[in-house]
Amino acid sequence: YNYTDVLHKSILFYEAQRSGRLPPNNRIPWRGDSAMNDRGGPGEDLTGGYYDAGDHVKFGFPMAFSITMLAWGVIEYWDVYRTSGELEAAIDSLKWGTDYLLKAHVAPNVLYGQVSFNTATADHRYWGRPEDMSSNNRPAYKIDRFKPGSDLAAETAAAMAATSLAIRRKENATRYVRRLITHAKDLFNFASTYKKLYHISIPNAKKYYKSTSFKDELTWAALWLYRATGENKYLKNAEGKYMNWALFQLPHKLRFSWDDKKAGIQMLMVSNTLKRGAQRTIKNYCSAVRSRNANYTSKGLLYLHEWSPLRYAANTAFICLMAADAGIDPTINAAWGRRQIHYMLGDTGRSYVVGFGSRYPLRPHHRASSCPPRPQTCNWSHKESDNPNHFILNGALVGGPDYNDTFQDSRSNFKQNEVALDYNAGFQGAVAALQYQAV
Ligand SMILES: *[C@@H]1O[C@H](CO)[C@@H](O)[C@H](O)[C@H]1NC(C)=O
Ligand SMILES: *[C@@H]1O[C@H](CO)[C@@H](O)[C@H](O)[C@H]1NC(C)=O
Ligand SMILES: *[C@@H]1O[C@H](CO)[C@@H](O)[C@H](O)[C@H]1NC(C)=O
Ligand SMILES: *[C@@H]1O[C@H](CO)[C@@H](O)[C@H](O)[C@H]1NC(C)=O
Ligand SMILES: *[C@@H]1O[C@H](CO)[C@@H](O)[C@H](O)[C@H]1NC(C)=O
Repeated sequence: YNYTDVLHKSILFYEAQRSGRLPPNNRIPWRGDSAMNDRGGPGEDLTGGYYDAGDHVKFGFPMAFSITMLAWGVIEYWDVYRTSGELEAAIDSLKWGTDYLLKAHVAPNVLYGQVSFNTATADHRYWGRPEDMSSNNRPAYKIDRFKPGSDLAAETAAAMAATSLAIRRKENATRYVRRLITHAKDLFNFASTYKKLYHISIPNAKKYYKSTSFKDELTWAALWLYRATGENKYLKNAEGKYMNWALFQLPHKLRFSWDDKKAGIQMLMVSNTLKRGAQRTIKNYCSAVRSRNANYTSKGLLYLHEWSPLRYAANTAFICLMAADAGIDPTINAAWGRRQIHYMLGDTGRSYVVGFGSRYPLRPHHRASSCPPRPQTCNWSHKESDNPNHFILNGALVGGPDYNDTFQDSRSNFKQNEVALDYNAGFQGAVAALQYQAV
């Protein structure tokens, strides 16, 4: 498979998800400026950022996690991005996210965590282009000292710290890097001082991105801050947490996702500190994933959830491919990760990446790309239609097949055809790892 082409297209997927005023070098011809009135309560500018999926909600929690993961891939596989000519675009995609997160962090203890048409549920009742949606009545929801959200604030800190590491090797990045680190430190402090699950403070997010715990985000953010600043207090803060292998024993605990960062924490421990304990935990994690006790489809896909199994398999592949590069069972982990990603790229006779390969999903559950060119109207008839999406949403990884390796290329089957910021993030890092290992 042409990994460079996958990287290229995955970055284009993020460009297709942009909200706000698009730059002159926008490469998605069917996208334009949108949600230009997104503001905080007192009027702060909240334009920009990314739409979450096939909808037009800006959900801060998965957006921040996606940026952290994308940045991780750029940090680890910088040379792959550089030699494939994708570094500038990859860094732009990180900055598109952090520019917004910086705007959303309006005071040390105040962070906007969602902007959507009225409520997220109301947003989902609209099928049309983001450019056409009513730009009024998109309230912004925030966390603050009285209604805190440790997971959201810590993940946003992690995204900023990781991005600072990814861009610091670029010329003229110094001032921006300093800004990211200042905000990341404030957010971490906010997250650790006022502890609460963010969806209690932003109940609107609960139905979609309910957080199980904030302890993993606090540890994850501390490790990213340690890596970005070298300040020992952050390492001290993270050490000793999540080192217990028992945490990973149950099958569903193998999942590494926007909600559960335990596996990522172990791998970061490995890269940050070369701690033996963390190496052993990652070795055990990847071997548990490969074992007969884990759940696989008959064609070999790790199946951790019937909702978008590909995203979980890709996130774990990213971890175990990095583990291989760190010398942890290198041959076997590299082969396993390659097999998972190759499943997504076409090994079963179809590709699960829109626009990649010869037989790819034609009907991703995605409003903007399903709409015909303007000035034609766009409405629910375009969701219900059996026709392929009007525009190719290049690079988007869809949810994926059922447990029988069966996939229905239908917009109405959103379980299988949803796309999302977080689906592509670990996947893109894993593809960069494969390219690194191939040369
Ligand atoms: C792989 O994809 C890249 C980017 O789309 C393209 O420039 C290159 O020619 C492709 N390589 C091969 C061998 O097809
Ligand atoms: C860096 O900043 C200097 C001074 O503002 C400018 O002349 C130069 O072109 C910039 N370089 C890049 C790569 O942006
Ligand atoms: C494997 O996944 C399938 C589909 O989600 C589920 O029905 C089955 O119970 C799972 N098996 C195990 C051992 O977890
Ligand atoms: C929905 O769009 C279709 C196709 O453009 C159009 O024929 C139809 O009139 C629209 N329906 C409504 C209710 O606007
Ligand atoms: C998989 O196939 C079996 C046997 O045909 C069937 O009973 C089962 O419902 C299928 N599972 C899914 C998730 O479609």
